[in-house]
Amino acid sequence: MDFKESLNNKIEMVNNALKEYLKPRYPEKLYEAMSYSVFAGGKRLRPVLMLSACETVGGRMENALPFACAMEMIHTYSLIHDDLPAMDNDDFRRGKPTCHKAFDEAIAVLAGDGLLTYAFEIMLDVICSKKDMKYADAAKVIAQLCGSCGMLVGQVVDVESEGTAIDDKTLMFIHDNKTGGLIKASLVAGAIIGGATEDEIRDFEKIGYNIGIAFQIKDDILDVTSTTEILGKPVFSDEKNNKSTYVTLHGIENAQEDFRTLSEGAVRMIENFGEKGSFLREYASMLISREK
Ligand code: IPE
Ligand code: IPE
Ligand code: MG
Ligand code: MG
Ligand code: MG
Repeated sequence: MDFKESLNNKIEMVNNALKEYLKPRYPEKLYEAMSYSVFAGGKRLRPVLMLSACETVGGRMENALPFACAMEMIHTYSLIHDDLPAMDNDDFRRGKPTCHKAFDEAIAVLAGDGLLTYAFEIMLDVICSKKDMKYADAAKVIAQLCGSCGMLVGQVVDVESEGTAIDDKTLMFIHDNKTGGLIKASLVAGAIIGGATEDEIRDFEKIGYNIGIAFQIKDDILDVTSTTEILGKPVFSDEKNNKSTYVTLHGIENAQEDFRTLSEGAVRMIENFGEKGSFLREYASMLISREK
């Protein structure tokens, strides 16, 4: 299987499993809103990272599939809440009206809550049925990096920093947490489920740090260089909210250069995994030229 086929295969595995999880049930409006946002058209970056980390350490991807779907649900919840009027106040996401525009604010808040809670139900279901502590370890890492040691704290500092001149250290803290959190969680949890050694887990933390910061730097760049049609979300959202970004702090050229340095660093670290890491290495390389 070549790289493109293998990528499509992973995305299809995830989409099929997500469809099963998100079958309509009572209350229909809630499940409609949850699946509206999940299936609006995301890249599935985090599930793909999780499945490929599992594969890279010699594990079976199928074992990581429920957790990969859980990660996409947590990511989608973070986007629904990120777009709310109380946060970034954006009207488009994944090429469609945001959840609070297609439904209403109350349903958008609850759909986010629904996706977050459902993600943990799915992971606990695996933990209880397999009775294998590595799944509990993976869920703990996900809880930490999506919550109090990751995305949530990054988002808090991000919104609290609006309209203020933050320094580089604070910006790196925001980027490493608000975006790096879920990316590190995906790689580390995938590696744990795949049976990684302690050393391999530490390697994935470092790879996740680089990919996470690089991914958000590119997001900051695309916010001022791309179009709503290509991104599927509004451009100049950061300026509208008076956010300090990697671009406002360092300028577009330094942002491009640091993005490339961090991304290439990640690719080099993945090379240490040899042949088994070839998909992940190509995927990380592909992110360097991403346009959306
Ligand atoms: C958007 O993430 C939010 C950020 C952390 C920058 P993605 O760019 O992965 O969004 P989707 O999942 O493809 O919509
Ligand atoms: C997103 O950062 C981080 C999240 C945790 C959702 P942004 O606010 O820059 O993401 P976009 O640009 O809205 O996707
Ligand atoms: Mg935001
Ligand atoms: Mg936003
Ligand atoms: Mg952004």
